[in-house]
Amino acid sequence: MKAVAWHGKRDVRVDTVPDPVLEHPTDAIVEITSTGICGSDLHLYEVLGPFLDAGDILGHEPMGIVREVGAEVTHIKPGDRVVIPFNVSCGYCFMCDTGLQSQCETTQVREMGTGAAFLGYTKLYGQVPGGQAEFLRVPQAQYGPIKVPEGPPDDRFVYLSDVLPTAWQAVEYADVPQGGSLLVVGLGPIGEMSCRIAQQRGVEHVIAVDLVPERLERACGHGVQALDLTEHDDLTAVVQELTDGRGADSVIDAVGMEAHGAPGAKLAHQLVGLLPDAVGRKMMETAGVDRLSALTFSIDAVRRGGTISIIGVYGGTADPLPMLTLFDKQIQLRMGQANVKRWIDDIMPLLTADGDPLGVEGFATHRLPLDAAPQAYETFQKKEDDAFKILLVP
Ligand SMILES: NC(=O)c1ccc[n+]([C@@H]2O[C@H](COP(=O)([O-])OP(=O)(O)OC[C@H]3O[C@@H](n4cnc5c(N)ncnc54)[C@H](O)[C@@H]3O)[C@@H](O)[C@H]2O)c1
Ligand SMILES: [Zn+2]
Ligand SMILES: [Zn+2]
Repeated sequence: MKAVAWHGKRDVRVDTVPDPVLEHPTDAIVEITSTGICGSDLHLYEVLGPFLDAGDILGHEPMGIVREVGAEVTHIKPGDRVVIPFNVSCGYCFMCDTGLQSQCETTQVREMGTGAAFLGYTKLYGQVPGGQAEFLRVPQAQYGPIKVPEGPPDDRFVYLSDVLPTAWQAVEYADVPQGGSLLVVGLGPIGEMSCRIAQQRGVEHVIAVDLVPERLERACGHGVQALDLTEHDDLTAVVQELTDGRGADSVIDAVGMEAHGAPGAKLAHQLVGLLPDAVGRKMMETAGVDRLSALTFSIDAVRRGGTISIIGVYGGTADPLPMLTLFDKQIQLRMGQANVKRWIDDIMPLLTADGDPLGVEGFATHRLPLDAAPQAYETFQKKEDDAFKILLVP
């Protein structure tokens, strides 16, 4: 089969590799019909090289048709249309039972000290072959795959793999008070979908920040007060003006560690990509190559006693956090990898409703064949051609 494989920094290729086969009675084989490229994939493209091997298959946002199931997989059968969550989770352990599927104790990657395994996502998360491919072996398929109805196009459901549950969790954790304000930092797919979900759930005052003109326009188009980072010297003051002088009741950081606006950190970040793996790994884990500008802005712009929901990914341990401000302002911090299966029942009614209330069918800007993946990654990384969300169609 054809599959999108990582070969080095900014080097992905479409390789021909053996078709996957059932390896465990809990596996399924799915023929992929649509598969997203994610902002998280850009971390692999750019800086997480030390945690990948050449030939690793990427992708964690796939959907398709079930072709084969192992003996223990009973909730789906060949021919079913399914979306595959990015978390590999079992459905029966303590963590899955409490709705923390991203911490699944059956698939936790203990040698790395990380949570549940994650499709197509480095040695940190189990080095599971990913879903940007013609076929995918789905581990823990007795639980993971989400059956979706026939009829509407793939675009209606494909985001159940990641974008929708991630944004749903971001909004849930932001805990916006009744009648309160929400600031969303970053208007990529995750930030923008968080705005849409918050609005659907009754939050009327949504402010957002980004620096890409088309992204700001997209958000303005559905009633978000979108602010251009580059046009304001004191963005915190602008947010305060819009919120009775206090700051936003809740903030979602949908940017993560690749924020723009911290040149020193950018240099360190690029350096990691050039170091020998062992050294780069160590540096990435401990030496503080993070870029915290989106988070420090969130801390400044939230009101006293407000909540910050961090959904953008951070790594590393050496960056100083403004603990005095966090403590003094009495800020609540909530974060983590999305627990995909936890939110599906909440989201599904918005996907099957008439009129597509979340606008998922018009969400992707690009639909490209799998062979176009190398160019697609480059375009997406450079934010060229108005690339916002790219779906590959094997
Ligand atoms: N927690 C999870 O389970 C989970 C799941 C999916 C994605 N993510 C993470 O969420 C983040 C966003 O994902 P995405 O796909 O939307 O990525 P993206 O890269 O498309 O979006 C990030 C946006 O932030 C903007 N930005 C950069 N610096 C900024 C700054 N200082 N202030 C304001 N905006 C800034 C960029 O212009 C961009 O539009 C990434 O870190 C991704 O890894 C987390
Ligand atoms: Zn993703
Ligand atoms: Zn589990």
